[in-house]
Amino acid sequence: MKGIVLAGGSGTRLYPMTLAVSKQLVPVYDKPMIYYPISVLMLAGITDILIITTPQDRDAYERLLGDGSWLGLTFSYAEQPHPRGLADAFIVGADHVGDDSVALILGDNIFHGPGFSQLLTRSSDGIKGCVLFGYAVSDPHRYGIGEVDEYGHLISLEEKPAAPRSNRAVTGLYFYDNDVVEIARSLTPSARGELEITDVNKTYLERGRARLVDLGRGFAWLDAGTYESLLEAGQYVRALELRQGVRIACLEEIALHAGLIDAEQCYDLGRRVGNSGYGHYVMELAEQARRSPMSVALR
Ligand code: DAU
Repeated sequence: MKGIVLAGGSGTRLYPMTLAVSKQLVPVYDKPMIYYPISVLMLAGITDILIITTPQDRDAYERLLGDGSWLGLTFSYAEQPHPRGLADAFIVGADHVGDDSVALILGDNIFHGPGFSQLLTRSSDGIKGCVLFGYAVSDPHRYGIGEVDEYGHLISLEEKPAAPRSNRAVTGLYFYDNDVVEIARSLTPSARGELEITDVNKTYLERGRARLVDLGRGFAWLDAGTYESLLEAGQYVRALELRQGVRIACLEEIALHAGLIDAEQCYDLGRRVGNSGYGHYVMELAEQARRSPMSVALR
């Protein structure tokens, strides 16, 4: 399965913060926002990731993330000059997807919860159709909303409905089989002029091939697109990291755990940013892995 992180748009709700910096590079506590969605794709076992940015921000992403080889991954880049909609990711990224299945994640979505990695691999293995991830919210009119029947089967999808039929938001993580490219190409722009991801998902639903997996109440799903939600996301990450002494979305840690890099490579990556708490954490992980390789798997 290929991965796409959509990190375009103009981030106007965070102005003036995002006048000169791309929204998805803004920090969420101790790391750039885009680390969080990249970590989700890594936890799903995806190693080939396309990052879609605006033309003016591409250089900054390349400076931060490079070609991905430092993490045992492949990062490539594509540009979306105008925010034509989330489904445009599959048109911009068609060559990257090729004849594979694909996971799309929005660059401002943060997921954290128990057993996530297993849930992701279970949901993506041999995918036929699409898998969406539902999350109960108190303000459903702000999101794509999914309605399920008494057996948990998805029966309707609506984008930002004025009168939502349920409180289950469709989060910004989507798994698709290869039909998604052809479906995205066949869409016409909505009233707000965008190729809507909800229209892609509705096509799968009409074909009887859409599934909604509930993330459950022990889970955190945060977006970081407003002053309030950005601060809340940072506070959430800070509280857990300080309390538990582990870092959320530490890419080096996930790569080490997955065997994509070894302890020596991990140590060097930590040293590169070694003047920070994040860097010390990565070096400490590497030292533990040197002493006892099992300790990494247990974290
Ligand atoms: O966060 C989940 C929600 O994301 C879903 O529940 C909705 O169904 C889905 O439409 C989307 O709603 P948003 O209103 O949050 O989408 P927004 O237009 O804010 O775009 C989300 C991110 O994607 C944002 O960080 C900017 C980026 N983006 C957006 C568009 C439209 C792009 O990179 N390119 C685009 O063309």
